[in-house]
This record gives sequence, C-alpha cells and structure tokens, in this order.
Amino acid sequence: MTQTPQASPAALVHAQSDADRHMLAACFLGPYGENDTLLEKLMVEFLRDHVHWRRNFHPEDPPAIPTSATLQPQYQAFEARMRRELHQLSAALKQSVPFHSPRYIGHMASDLLLPGLAAQILALPYNPNNVSEDAAPITVQLEVQVGLQLARMLGFVADPSRPDCAFGHLTSGGTLANYQALRLALALKAFPVALRAAGVPGVALPDDDWQAFNLGPADAIALLEAWRHWLSCRNHDEQQRWRAAVDAQRIEHLGLTTFFSRHRDLRTPCVLAPITAHYSWSKGLKLLGLGRDQLRLLPVTGMRLDPAALQQELERCEYERQPVLMAVAVLGSTEYGTIDPVDEVVVARERSRRHGLGFSVHVDAAWGGYLATLFREPDGGLRALEDIRQEYRDFPRPEVHAAFSALSQVDSVTVDPHKLGYLPYGTGAFVCRDHRAVELLSEHADYVFREGAADDYMTRYRQLGQFIPEGSKSGAAAAAVYVTHRVLPLDHAHFGIMPRQTVLAAEAFLARAQRFAQDMAPSLNACVPFHPDSNLVCLALNPAGNLDIAEANTFVRDLYDGLRCDPRQPLQLKQFFASITTLQRAMVGDAEMHRILRELGIDPATMERTHTDRLVILRHTLMNPYLVDHENGISYIDRYFDYLTTHLGPPSRT
Ligand SMILES: Cc1ncc(COP(=O)(O)O)c(C=O)c1O
Repeated sequence: MTQTPQASPAALVHAQSDADRHMLAACFLGPYGENDTLLEKLMVEFLRDHVHWRRNFHPEDPPAIPTSATLQPQYQAFEARMRRELHQLSAALKQSVPFHSPRYIGHMASDLLLPGLAAQILALPYNPNNVSEDAAPITVQLEVQVGLQLARMLGFVADPSRPDCAFGHLTSGGTLANYQALRLALALKAFPVALRAAGVPGVALPDDDWQAFNLGPADAIALLEAWRHWLSCRNHDEQQRWRAAVDAQRIEHLGLTTFFSRHRDLRTPCVLAPITAHYSWSKGLKLLGLGRDQLRLLPVTGMRLDPAALQQELERCEYERQPVLMAVAVLGSTEYGTIDPVDEVVVARERSRRHGLGFSVHVDAAWGGYLATLFREPDGGLRALEDIRQEYRDFPRPEVHAAFSALSQVDSVTVDPHKLGYLPYGTGAFVCRDHRAVELLSEHADYVFREGAADDYMTRYRQLGQFIPEGSKSGAAAAAVYVTHRVLPLDHAHFGIMPRQTVLAAEAFLARAQRFAQDMAPSLNACVPFHPDSNLVCLALNPAGNLDIAEANTFVRDLYDGLRCDPRQPLQLKQFFASITTLQRAMVGDAEMHRILRELGIDPATMERTHTDRLVILRHTLMNPYLVDHENGISYIDRYFDYLTTHLGPPSRT
C-alpha cells in the first residue's frame, strides 16, 4: 500500500524527477532491505544455475561425495563448527558501519548497486582469476570491456580498431591505480633515452638525453611506434638482437641508480600535485623508488589547484633542468570534493612541451570519476553546460564543466568503482588515453602467458597479468563492474541518476547548512568553508563568544564523538554518522584561513598563542541514494540538522 507523504521538506523541492526515482527504487538492496526478495530470487536462481553447470560438465561422473556423508559424525561436527563460526561472524558484523543508511554521511561509502552485488555473488563460485584468459576466459574479457566503458565515459577513444584506442583495467583501489599511472609515465618517459643509448639506426632519435627524456607522452608514443615499425621490417634474428639491446638500456632493467648514473644530464623526475592530493601519491613515489622527496605539493586556492602556481613551478623546473614526470589534477578531492582545473593543467602541459619540458597529465578521479556521467550524452557526446545546469540550483560551475570537458585530453585517469560506482571494495580502475604505451609494462612468464601475443587489441589484453601491478586478481569483481555498466550505461540518462541525486543532496545540504547557521547565530557560529564543487560538504562550527581556535577544535571533536563509529557502543545509539577533517593553515593559506576564522568569530592570533595550525571541521559525504525519502516525506538532511540543533542546544534568543 502506498502511504501518503507526511510532509514536504524544503529539501524535496529540487529533488529528482519521478523517472529517476522510479529507476532508483530498483537499484539497491535499500535502507530497509526493501529489495530483499529480488536479490534472494537472483541468488537462488544463479546458485542453482551454477550447480547445473557443475553437474553437466561430465554428467557421466558420479557424485564423489556420497549422500550418506551427511550422516557421519565428522561431517556433522564440521557443519556444526562452520555454522557456529558463521553465526559468530554474522553477529560480529552487526557492528559494521551502516553504509546503507541515509543516516550515514561520513566517508566515501554507501549502499551497493544490485546488478554489481548480484553479478559478483553469481561469479564467485566460478572463481575466475583475471591474471589471464587461461584462468578466466570470460571475466578477463569483461575487465578489458570495463576499461573501454570507462574510457568512453571520460571521452577517450574507445574503439579497439583505432590504433590510439584507450586501455583500462581494474586495480585493488585508487592507490594502486595511481601507482600504475606513475609506472606507465616513467616507462614512457625513459624509453626514448634507452633507444638513444642502444644506438638504434633508422629511427629519427632526439638529439640528446634531455630532449629524449622530455618528449612528452604523445611524441614518445610516436617514437615508440616508429621503433616498432622499424623493428617489424627486420628479420627474426635482427629483431631479437635489437630488442635485447634496447631492453638492456631501459630504466626497468637497469634500475634508477644505474640509469641515472649512465645519463648524467638527467635528474630523477618530480611529480607535481596539489597539496590536497591523496596520500597514495606519496606511497606511489616510495614504491617506485623515486622517493617521497620528488612529490612537489603545489598551493591551492579554494582547495583547487592554483594554475599560476603550477606554471611558476614548471618555469622553475625548466630553468633548473629538473625533469617532470607528471602533473596530477584531482577530480574530487578526498576531503572537500573540490575539482581541480584539469583544462588549465592540459594547457600547461602543451606550453611546457613547446619549451622542451614534456610530462604526462594524470587525473586522480578516484572519488569524482563517475560524476563524468553527468556530462555525457547517451550517444557519447559531451553535454552543454546550459543543459546540465537546468537540473540543479547551481551545479556545475563553468570551471567544473571545463574540467570535465578536458578529461578527454589527459594522459591517464584513476576512477574507483568502489566509491561513486557503488560497488564492493576491491575495484579501483586505471585508464590511459592511448594504449600503445602499455606494452612497455609487459612482463613475460611462460607458464602464464601464451607466446606470440597478438597485435589484436582484445587478444593482447586478455593476457592482462602482463601489464598490471598485481598477479592473480578477482574476476568476479570485474564481472560486477561490467554488468553494472551494462545495466546502467555511463551517461547522464542511466548511471547519471546516482551522481545526480548526490549533487542534488549536496545542494540541499548546503542550503540547509546556511539556514542552520542563521538559526543558530545567537549561540553558535557556523559556515561552509568552501563552496562545494560536487557532493562533499564540510561544516565549520564555533560556539558564539569563543575566540580561541583550540577551544573550537575541542568543541567540534566532542560533537564528533557522537557522530563517529564506536565499536564499544551499540550501533543504534547513534543517530547519525559524519566524519571530520582539518583545514590546515599551510594548505589553505593565510588569507583564506583568516577569512574562515573571522566568519566563525575566532581570533586568528590564537593560532600562534595556542600553537594550533589547523581548524577541525565536520565533513559530510552525500552519496546515499535515499537521503531524501519521498515515500515518507522525510529529509535525512533536515533531520541531521535537527539533530545538531538539539544536540548543541536550541539557540537562546533574548
Ligand atoms: C582522490 C583519491 N585518490 C586516491 C584514493 C585512494 O583510493 P583507495 O582507498 O581506493 O586506494 C582516494 C581514497 O579516498 C581518493 O579520495
């Protein structure tokens, strides 16, 4: 029976269309487990289907486990132990974080999309290993297809018959995808130097090591192609000899120390990233052996990469002959959801290349990648700014539209299906614009990969383990991503319903936060420190009359105690879950920090007095699809602010 909506909260005004809402109803298990029957039916159906498959492999083979086995005491004892452990696990898991609930607005997690969840559970008993097609004849192909689906969403060439087609694969998460980006960029940057060192004839090589190391990705790929073509015109023995000669000069063979000691004109390249970049960049540089010291963190304005600072750093690098491996732009910063000006970074890459300082541009869209669906037409075209803006209060700012439009020109991108893709953990993704450089990563192992890897795109990448950092990996996870992208194609009309509702929720949250700040004004100062670009909204708070930053931080930490997961307490005691972060003076800059502190009534001088260089703030990830419950006329956003109001004490008006 359909209930009559009880109320019409303000947050509903700019809410989803009926069509979005009706489709959304089928997408998730739901906060109440509303779609349990659907999931259960699917599970039973496909478990039976799997059993049929086992039985029909060689139906002439009789059952190896006798039916009487269940009567044996050892069998029964085993089953009892298993049941006991499973019951204990199930009971313990009740202390899990309730990501499915619209009361959870903490970190980057939410409910799981049913097609992905069902596909993963369906595929698990087949246990495919996506290291190669020998271990996963079906799911490894699906993973290559996922790479193409994501490439299309980003605006890359996604047609494998084109030589410059993109390539993408899944990783355990965004951290490893970022590492893969570094690995590929370094291989491509150093390859022309190896060609020179090997003295390859018949290919137009750069004049010196500096030029070779600074060609930039597009020219380095063109050189790689020229080398391949030259090689293909040699006889078999010559091919072997030249390949070995070049391999012996490659950075992957020599290691960093020997490579740079042989090429004295070159220094270890650095990576330029905004100060808001995720800590996985530091991990990646350590892992690659380049060292954390090569990560140059650039200032931001409004938590977005400052293009002028990037340009200044590039000019300094050029002047000091400091090679740059990569410039990173973040599309949805981890803490504030802000979008860097990707378009400006692409312009900077072209300007520097003309000055002889080539480097790759990588976009870390681990968080914001799926927002690209909002900018994509079902036919693959880019949506016009005006069309998108009709659906929101003020999303996207023109700068944000420009950033997404420029994605097609970057060299590689990280996107995490296990974040805004609403899929189970264990799925990040790396996508590069032009697949031809990927060959440089290949690793050979006779027992896993077949000889004579084909020129054909699909055949080559079915030997996936050759090119990725991992070895064995889950084929079931790839099936989950593939099926989800098939059920919900990556454009605004399909998958876009999810990001659309998160952006709408963020707009509703922002409006409600502003009202909250007004209402609480007599007793509390509150502000949203930065206008959100997407769906993460922070809230800074300070009791009225308090001038001291350290006191304000204690106040927010105490408030957060009621909003965080505490495994020692029953989950139900919590009304809402949020997260916290800090605004660091070194990151925000003095001017912005003073502005925010003044808005909160805090004296900036107390930063020195109390040796406090950061302000603690609440952080909210608004990705739950049911933050506005139309069925019952409830806005959990309103309820969250009601909770804060009650918890902090209603404003005392005199
Ligand atoms: C921008 C960004 N990059 C990379 C990562 C790392 O992703 P993962 O935790 O999946 O390794 C995160 C995680 O939050 C992120 O927000």
